[in-house]
Amino acid sequence: MLNRREFLQALSTSTVAASTLAVSALSAAISSLSVAQSMTHNMIAPATATPGFVPDVELELTARVESLALLPGQTSQLWRYVGTVLFGDASALSVLDNSHIPVIRARQGQKFRIHFRNQLPEESTIHWHGLHMVQRMDGHPMYAIPNGATYVYEFTVTNRAGTYWFHPHPHERTGHQVYHGLSGLFLVSDENEQQLQLPSGEFDLPLIVQDRTFDASNQLVYLPGPPPRNVWMQGFTGQAVLVNGKQAYSRTLKRTAYRLRLFNASNASNYILRWSHGVDMTVIGTDGGLLETPVQRAYLSMAPAERIDVWIDLSQLPAGQDVSLLAESFSPALSNITATQTGAALVQGARPIARFVLDSEQLPTKALPPQLSVFPPLSLADAINTSHPRTVLLSMMQGQVLLNGRVFGVMDEYTEDEIVRAGTTEIWEFANNVATGMQMSHPMHIHNVHFKVLERIPGANESITAQQIRAGFVDEGLKDVVQVLPGERVRVLLTYEPHAGIYLYHCHILEHEDLGMMRNFMIRAALVNKTVATVGGATSSARIELGTSVDNWMSLTAELVAPAHCHIMAAIQPEAAHRGRRGNIIVVVSPDGGTTLLAVNNLGQLQPLDSNNVQVFTTVGSLAERHEFSLFNGLMDVADKGIYDLFIGYTVDDSRRVDEIIYNTTPLRLTVR
Ligand code: C2O
Ligand code: CU
Ligand code: CU
Repeated sequence: MLNRREFLQALSTSTVAASTLAVSALSAAISSLSVAQSMTHNMIAPATATPGFVPDVELELTARVESLALLPGQTSQLWRYVGTVLFGDASALSVLDNSHIPVIRARQGQKFRIHFRNQLPEESTIHWHGLHMVQRMDGHPMYAIPNGATYVYEFTVTNRAGTYWFHPHPHERTGHQVYHGLSGLFLVSDENEQQLQLPSGEFDLPLIVQDRTFDASNQLVYLPGPPPRNVWMQGFTGQAVLVNGKQAYSRTLKRTAYRLRLFNASNASNYILRWSHGVDMTVIGTDGGLLETPVQRAYLSMAPAERIDVWIDLSQLPAGQDVSLLAESFSPALSNITATQTGAALVQGARPIARFVLDSEQLPTKALPPQLSVFPPLSLADAINTSHPRTVLLSMMQGQVLLNGRVFGVMDEYTEDEIVRAGTTEIWEFANNVATGMQMSHPMHIHNVHFKVLERIPGANESITAQQIRAGFVDEGLKDVVQVLPGERVRVLLTYEPHAGIYLYHCHILEHEDLGMMRNFMIRAALVNKTVATVGGATSSARIELGTSVDNWMSLTAELVAPAHCHIMAAIQPEAAHRGRRGNIIVVVSPDGGTTLLAVNNLGQLQPLDSNNVQVFTTVGSLAERHEFSLFNGLMDVADKGIYDLFIGYTVDDSRRVDEIIYNTTPLRLTVR
């Protein structure tokens, strides 16, 4: 069997004889439901710019190796993103605080096109952490591009205002690449946020916390590869804590209110953060954007990849006063924490990681609004699995870090219990209470969704320290990463985004992720009407009734057995929001069970697909409530009986790519006898 790349190449150089199906009588029967097998493919052609996609902002982002002055003395070799704005708002891309860290600024609703050029000595991909994307734009390792190649990311920013970020996500190399400097912020604003008039411009300051170890010649020291598993399992914790890429970070602040976007971008370390002058942390946002109302914490506990936005009013403090952000960092092994230990150790080690000196200038300060945002509807009552949460067991055994006993392996592999339905609401439970093996905290991340933390169920005999760590969590917010302490079970509530496709969930200790503590899950397109495939009984046609989809592609899990010379009718009901728009009805037929793809053209004839675009079956000037069409238009005469996979869907706007229809659609298996 050809893999997908070979297949795509083969298609462009060979002609595939068109099979045809003739009109004739009659019956067809639906047999049992089946789950589609994942397709084999290693590398997928990089995405290129889509002609119909009109970006508001177009960027170029190059990943490359550079030498920079990070510490006094010798320069350090870093891997970094550098970029330029090709089109649109020039402030869309900047550099954080004179560092090597890029910041992308976007407004909700904007369309982005980002040309990612890989000039690293190895393959890479960019994942837009926290942003909701179609599969092909999500930076999954299956889309990694080699040195010298370019991948064009195109997406509309649909997220609410918040602190999101981006980083590489190649298989087994994420830890290495992020550690060496590749990560950036992706800040989104929206109308609601603008109305609040929160501190902005220079008063909106991200503080990225990362630990790193340098050798005597100022070069970064990381774990050697291939991984000695027992070492990697501990997670890499560095000796120096950098803020915005700098050691001993300090800066002058004005005496007014600031929004500080705290972000733990370390590979594995956890932090406890608090103010040196004893005031509480006023939290206004988390991973998924602004809270509904501000909350107070004496200190914050932050796991890798977590973001917490805080607000602070410095106007009442005297000029010249030193205000520091104190941090206690600890390894996810929590090795210094035992059931008998008191919490003392946690605060004893606190050290200033960022020092602020207050200016004499005092500026008028706007009070923090009591209502910050309204969360999108997400209600426990809507959960479809209240009595049996989707459980993910976190375990560490014999050099393996596992999710439900499994590791990440084949790029697009997922199992039946990793299939979900777009638009549905579910409870997930991360259970870190596996009785055997080593215990660590695991910050669990799910791509393409945000969730609410419903409940934390602590393990038995939990240490006081663990309890203290828990007191610093901000579970009131929408999250895409949640720390799961040793022994703990954490329940979260989420609604799957409308984007169908393969997405990842994993531990965000990057060494764990690279060891395979990561899995795919498949979001099947939502069907408003349950999947149905009905068969014309007494008449001479088989009728495939397709449900309504919110993601353009139909997902069918039915099997249709039709006699040769059967006339097959299909009907598609576009979702309400798409009605009246121009659309394409697309039919892809794979006559040999997965390795050859043909599309049905306007004349009802089968044609080989070109490598990147799905042939359009028919373009509809205005999508109606329902479209009925004859699948093979009566022109086809199937002399060759066999098994066919049908992928049937419709698109609006620009998406016509083969990959999307293949990965996002469960084929309808048609057996012609
Ligand atoms: Cu920030 Cu899959 O990761
Ligand atoms: Cu992510
Ligand atoms: Cu982990």
